[in-house]
Amino acid sequence: MSLVSMFKGKGPSGFGYGSTAEDVTEGLDLSGRTILLTGCNSGIGKETLRVLGKRGAHVIAAARTVEKAQAACDDVGGQTTPVACELSEPASVQACARQVIELGRPLDAIVCNAGIMALPKLNQKHGYELQFFTNHIGHFILVTSLLDTLADNGRVVMVSSGAHNGAPPEGIQFDNLSGERGYSPWANYGQSKLANLLFANQLSKRLAGTGKTANSLHPGVIHTNLTRSMNPIARVAMSIGAPLVLKSAGEGAATQCYLAVHPSIEGVSGKYFADCNESRSSSHGRDEAMAERLWEVSEKIAAEVTA
Ligand SMILES: NC(=O)c1ccc[n+]([C@@H]2O[C@H](COP(=O)([O-])OP(=O)(O)OC[C@H]3O[C@@H](n4cnc5c(N)ncnc54)[C@H](OP(=O)(O)O)[C@@H]3O)[C@@H](O)[C@H]2O)c1
Repeated sequence: MSLVSMFKGKGPSGFGYGSTAEDVTEGLDLSGRTILLTGCNSGIGKETLRVLGKRGAHVIAAARTVEKAQAACDDVGGQTTPVACELSEPASVQACARQVIELGRPLDAIVCNAGIMALPKLNQKHGYELQFFTNHIGHFILVTSLLDTLADNGRVVMVSSGAHNGAPPEGIQFDNLSGERGYSPWANYGQSKLANLLFANQLSKRLAGTGKTANSLHPGVIHTNLTRSMNPIARVAMSIGAPLVLKSAGEGAATQCYLAVHPSIEGVSGKYFADCNESRSSSHGRDEAMAERLWEVSEKIAAEVTA
């Protein structure tokens, strides 16, 4: 528990900043449920794997390699199926989707948790800026390949970030998805997290009337391996300050666990959450035209890189 959590109250959901993944799933029997989770081997993803498994869910645990996924599953126990899913390689994402479909189990939730942050220099894959490609396009291909496998009331949970507020002033830079016309580690991270949020919003619209839902979230600020690309001084400062001002992994994993399994979220869709309560995203995060355009552009990119 962080020091800050002692001063922050709970919201209308009955949970808040200091609620943990264990708190929000307390008393829930998730046996019989199947949940696909990306980024299962580190940070809040590993805590999500541990807690959903502890409550009885069968977690299909995805990491860049099956060895990493297997090691995480061995560490936490519970009913798991480790799978490889390298989000920056469309062939790996497609292979993962095929493997999930072949398991023949409807997915009660897909938690798109994996991500990279603030790469100091421009990196590209398949001609696109790497944070956008990994955090958004990789998940776009994965989720859209699995929509038929999503249970009738299945939930898609997109782990965005408050950093979506730091996206470029125009929002998604549709004329600069390669990053070659300008790159900033944080603005491009913000763009990728805005894309996660807009994807959830647009998916929610497309799923309207089906019982399937899509929501996005900011997990809080948590000291995890996500800081691996930050400069060493900032990393040391974060590890010193972490117990005082940052969320613990349990607190950080709470909102995505809440959205994935809590009964009070049944039927809720197209919303953005923070600290287990509905929250207000940036104006770009509420821009329906931008969400629609992003979907169309993402479909074209997905077709191009999987051809
Ligand atoms: N920590 C925070 O303060 C914070 C705040 C807001 C939002 N978030 C979001 O929370 C999510 C989880 O982050 P975290 O803090 O738990 O970070 P983390 O400890 O670095 O975990 C990130 C996970 O994503 C995986 N990943 C990275 N690149 C991948 C790729 N190309 N293909 C497949 N998996 C990949 C990592 O695998 P490897 O270990 O193999 O690299 C790891 O399992 C991210 O989406 C992040 O943007 C975090």
